[in-house]
Amino acid sequence: MDLKKYRGRHFLTLLDYTESEIRELIDLAVKMKKGKVKKSLKGKSLALLFEKPSTRTRVSFEAGMTKLGGHALYVDLRTTQLGRGESIADTARTFSRYVDGVMARLYKHTVIEEFAKYSTIPVINGLTDMFHPCQTMADMQTVFEHKGDVGGLKVVFLGDCGFNMFHSTMIGFSKLGADVYGICPDKMEYMPKKEVFEKAKKQAKGKIVIGHEIELVEGADVVITDTWVSMGQEDEQKRLADLKPYQVNQELMKKAKKDAIFMHCLPAHRGQEVVDEVIDGRWSVVFDEAENRLHAQNAILAALMGGK
Ligand code: CP
Ligand code: NVA
Repeated sequence: MDLKKYRGRHFLTLLDYTESEIRELIDLAVKMKKGKVKKSLKGKSLALLFEKPSTRTRVSFEAGMTKLGGHALYVDLRTTQLGRGESIADTARTFSRYVDGVMARLYKHTVIEEFAKYSTIPVINGLTDMFHPCQTMADMQTVFEHKGDVGGLKVVFLGDCGFNMFHSTMIGFSKLGADVYGICPDKMEYMPKKEVFEKAKKQAKGKIVIGHEIELVEGADVVITDTWVSMGQEDEQKRLADLKPYQVNQELMKKAKKDAIFMHCLPAHRGQEVVDEVIDGRWSVVFDEAENRLHAQNAILAALMGGK
C-alpha cells in the first residue's frame, strides 16, 4: 500500500477524499487492527486541541499515538493564549514548529479551516459543528466488518440531520455507494445545510433522500441516530419535543431488516434518542464503533503523518 499521496494532507471533511482513498484508508485500518500491517510514528508528536468536551476522541487519539510509538499531548484551548486573543493563524504557525500533526475539536468549522490554512503540518478534524469525519470512518469500518461492504446498503439516520454527524454520514456512506436516508422534523434547523447537501449529492454514488416519516426505516440495513442536543445547543431544549417522534425504540427497529444493525457515535442519551432495549439489544454495534475510532484514526495518522 503506497501511502505517499496522503502525506501532509489535512483531514477536515470526507468531501476532500475520493471513494478509493476512503476505501484504502478503511482497508488499512482493518489490517492494522488485525496486526497484519504495522505502522510506526516513532518520535512523532500529535497535539490534541480541544474547545469542547470529549471521552472517545481524546482517549482514542492518545492511546492510538502510544500504540504507534509516538506521543500525544492534550491542549485545552481555554488554557492557551487563544483564550486571551492570540490569532488562530499565529497559533497554527507556532504548533507547526513543535509537533508533527494536530487534531482539533472546535465549535466552528470555519475556525479549523483557518487553522489548517496556516498550518504546515496535517490538521485532523476531531469534530466541528459541520463534520465529524473520523467518526464516520470508524462507522464505515464497523459496517464493513458486520456487512462486508457499505455499497448497496440502505442506511437510515434519524434525528438531527442539520449537524455534524448526519453531514459526515451522508457524505461518507453515499460516496461508497450506500443509499442514505435522513429522517428529521420538517423544520429548517433539522435539515442538512444546503451547501453540504449539494456537495454530497454531487459526489454520491448512492441515493441521498431526506424525509420526515419514520416509515422510511422499512428495509434498512443500518439504523443510526445521534444526540438530539449537540454540544453548543444546550439552551435549545425545545429540540427534545421536536425530535421525540424519531426515537429509536424496538417498534422502530422492527421496521428495519431482520439483520439490521444499530449505530450511535456516543455519548447516548438513553430514553431520548434511543432506548436501552435497542442500544443494549441484539442490533447494537455501538462499542465496535467506539473501538474502531482507534483503528480508523491510526490508519489516518499513519497515512498523513508518515513514518515507517
Ligand atoms: N463520538 C465521539 O466523538 O465521542 P466523544 O465526544 O466522547 O469524543
Ligand atoms: N452531534 C454530537 C456528536 C457528539 C460526538 C455533538 O456535536 O455533540
